[in-house]
Order: sequence, then C-alpha cells, then structure tokens
Amino acid sequence: MEIQRIGVIGAGTMGNGIAHVFARSGYSVVLCDVEQRFLDRGLATITKNLDREVAKNKISAEDKAAALKKIEPVTDRGRLADCDFIVEAATEKFEIKTEIFRDLDRLARPEVILASNTSSISITKLAALTKRPDKVIGMHFFNPVPVMQLVEVIRGLATSPETFSETRDLAIKLDKTPVEVNDAPGFVSNRVLMPLLNEAMYTVMEGVATPEAVDEVFKLGMAHPMGPLTLADFIGLDVCLDIMRVMLDGLGDPKYRPCPLLIKMVDAGWLGRKSGRGFYKY
Ligand code: CAA
Repeated sequence: MEIQRIGVIGAGTMGNGIAHVFARSGYSVVLCDVEQRFLDRGLATITKNLDREVAKNKISAEDKAAALKKIEPVTDRGRLADCDFIVEAATEKFEIKTEIFRDLDRLARPEVILASNTSSISITKLAALTKRPDKVIGMHFFNPVPVMQLVEVIRGLATSPETFSETRDLAIKLDKTPVEVNDAPGFVSNRVLMPLLNEAMYTVMEGVATPEAVDEVFKLGMAHPMGPLTLADFIGLDVCLDIMRVMLDGLGDPKYRPCPLLIKMVDAGWLGRKSGRGFYKY
C-alpha cells in the first residue's frame, strides 16, 4: 500500500510543523484537533512558516498554495479513518494519549501504522494499549519541524521491522534524516539534552553565572545555535520538567532530579517563551 494520506493529531507547535512538512512533500494531510480555534491557530502558523520559506526562496508561492490546499483541518477524529499513516502529536500526558491510541486503534484500518511524536512517553506502553502493537512506533520530530533535520525513530519492544522501515522511509521522503533508537526513557535526544539544560539551571540557581553568561558560554564556546537556557525557554519549562520527571521515574537514578529552580518557575507559571516569561522575558 502506498502511503498518501497522513493523519496528524494535534495542531500545536509540533503537530502544525509535522502537517507542514508532510503537505510540503506532497502528502494529503488530515489535521485534527479538539477545537476549531486550535486548528485556526495551527493553520495561521503553517501559513506564516511557509511565507518564511517563500521569502528565503526555499519554495515558490505556488508550492506554498499547493501545500496549504493539501491540509484538511477537522475536529471530528472519525475523519482520520481513511488515512494511511497517523502521527499523534497531542498534549504530552499519558491519559490523553491513552484515549487517543485506543480510539485510533478502533477507527484506523488494521494495517495502518500509528506513530507518536512523544518526547518521553514509552512507545512500548502506547503500543500495548492497541491490538496492533507491532504497528506502533515513535516518530520524534524537533522544533522548529520545518527546519530541523532529525527524526528520531523509536522502536517499541513489539515494533515490527516492517513498521520501522516504512516509518524510516517516510522520514526520508520528508527530506529528513531518520536515526534509529530503542525505547527507553527520554530516548537518546532528551536523555542527553535535558540533563544539560537542567545542569545549566543549577548553575543559575547556585549563582555561578547569569542566564546570559551561561548561554554565551555554549554559543561561543561550543557553537550551539541557542544557549541551554534560551533553548529551555523555547522548548517550554513545563515540558523540560515533565521529561526530567519521566527520566527520574523510569531510570531511578538521582542524577535526573529536576533542578529546584525549574520546579519553582513552572509553579509560578513561568513556562518560557510561550507564557512570556522564563529565564528571559519575551
Ligand atoms: N519554519 C520554517 N523555517 C524556519 C522556521 C520555521 N518555524 N524557523 C526558522 N526558520 C528558518 C529561517 O527561515 C532560516 O532559514 P535560512 O537558514 O534559509 O535563512 C533558518 O530557519 C534559521 O532561522 P533564523 O535565521 O530566523 O534564526 P536562527 O538562525 O536564530 O535559527 C533556529 C533559529 C533554527 C531555531 C536555531 O536557533 C536553532 O537551531 N536552535 C536550536 C533548536 C533546537 O535545538 N531544537 C530542538 C529542540 S528539542 C525538541 O524539539 C524535542 C524535544 O523533545 C524537546
């Protein structure tokens, strides 16, 4: 079966980026979210990001119009029933994903692969919620999705070799580079990235340096495009905290304990760029 029609659940930062890259590569996309206003916001972001690509001469104005026409926004999840491949990019809460995976397993054709863009939830656990655990996989994109080259492709314990190769091939068709990883808390990306960000937060909490100074060290000394605190604000401090907790819980090593300053900032509602305040003010 040729994959032509892609379902994307969630029109937030990751979901709209995923819909963007599939539509830009010529796939039909059914973009599903629970409320029309989330879809409107997601489509506005896709339009803005396609405009950016037109302005940089990466795509033509016709490519932009064609990509937008490929995206069908829906609030009724039943409309995903005729999709050939589904990527879930909903809120990063296990209860929410549980409901979605059970529902997708009921409504999608039995041969359809169900992929999750989760950054930390176990693929093996999501697979076990369905009657097709061999067809559940992690397809982890990076923000901003239209720009970042990587797709971390995560095999759950039951993921079949065919599911892996189809997902890897799909990532290549999106002009991304898939990297194979086995299921473990934080996978590879966040297992290594989050302790770096968390440690940067400790240096601020302990008065070793200001956020600006920490970020300068990484930008100028290690050629990172963003310093770790700017990146934490960009990812969302609540997301960083959730991932540290998943790793502490799943790996049991105290080296993954979240920085108390991170917990305090999330308690204050300082979630980074999206809330207007994090390590910096926006
Ligand atoms: N859509 C399309 N294109 C975009 C874009 C978007 N949303 N955002 C930026 N771009 C393009 C720009 O047009 C520009 O294109 P050219 O190179 O052709 O000029 C390019 O990307 C760079 O953008 P800018 O010049 O505007 O800005 P910049 O040079 O400061 O780069 C950045 C911005 C790409 C975000 C860069 O700072 C960066 O790479 N930061 C690190 C991002 C990162 O680490 N992401 C991973 C987060 S972790 C995650 O997502 C997963 C998780 O599980 C937590």
